[in-house]
Amino acid sequence: MRSKISSFIIIPSFLSIIIFMFYVFFKSYNYMSYFFHPIIISFFIIITVLLWILESINHLIFKRKIQFLTEKERLKILEENEGNYFYRFYKFIFHDFKNSKNEVKKIDHGFDGIIELDNKLPMWWIHLFYFTIAFSMIYFLSYLFIDFSNPYKEYNIAYKKQIKEIEIFEKNSPQATIENSYFKKNLINSGKILFNENCSTCHKSDGSGNIGPNLTDEYWINKYEKSLFKNIFSIIWNGSNNNPTMRDFGKSGEIKGNDIEKISSYVYFINQKVKKPLIGKAPQGKKIIEWSRKTQE
Ligand code: HEC
Repeated sequence: MRSKISSFIIIPSFLSIIIFMFYVFFKSYNYMSYFFHPIIISFFIIITVLLWILESINHLIFKRKIQFLTEKERLKILEENEGNYFYRFYKFIFHDFKNSKNEVKKIDHGFDGIIELDNKLPMWWIHLFYFTIAFSMIYFLSYLFIDFSNPYKEYNIAYKKQIKEIEIFEKNSPQATIENSYFKKNLINSGKILFNENCSTCHKSDGSGNIGPNLTDEYWINKYEKSLFKNIFSIIWNGSNNNPTMRDFGKSGEIKGNDIEKISSYVYFINQKVKKPLIGKAPQGKKIIEWSRKTQE
């Protein structure tokens, strides 16, 4: 029997499907570049051409052969091979399904009088079934032996990508500096979180003071800048000149400019707030009138 579908169509189609599946599964792994290598592509083309030549030879042999058959046999074979390629393909797939109407097999159970129909499964169904087996094998093997769909690996890849994107973003978006930053109300909440993480051990989370001075009163040890907000920023950036315990968070790179702007906004906010913590460290330094709250709300 001749194959109903030319191999020069079947084989490249299967290869394409496999490559496509690889593409779907592994596109994040950069394996795809191997497939599009010029050698692979020329190999692909050569195989297809060779198959096509083989197919043509086969066809010639077939034509020669049927000349030696009886009329009846020849008709039968020609009927099987009639029509163009896609018609034969269609017939191939739905062939048994159509014929099964006439040749239904019956299984007699005997003891219960029930007769079971034993239809042949349609060709397309069987092929689909084989396809799922092949498909699952690819899936199974790749899952066993390579990192495909390994959640940890995928997480790592996504994580690294994110970190890189953040790095690029931070490089391209300049950090706040003492010159360009100012009090922003919308930064208070994120500043509070950062203050709790970095400053609360010495200043308490409400800023009422511990080892470090009370940040909610009107007394200041350090005055480097004209405005209160810039003064806070400056102390966090450069540290204190008289006491190294208050270290240079900004200069040393421990906290980035944008975060210092947030923390400064929070410190400024708790300093200017009417409601002060009930218990606070006794005032240190000098009272600075121009920084104290002017309007009482
Ligand atoms: C290791 C303890 C410690 C940590 C952590 C710390 N500080 Fe301080 N801070 C101090 C001390 C001590 C002083 C007093 C410095 C001086 O006497 O000049 C101070 C002073 C300050 C002042 C100036 C107060 C004044 O009256 O001049 C500000 C503002 C300040 N800190 C904010 C912060 C912020 C914001 C953070 C978190 C990023 C922070 N500090 C973290 C110990 C600390």
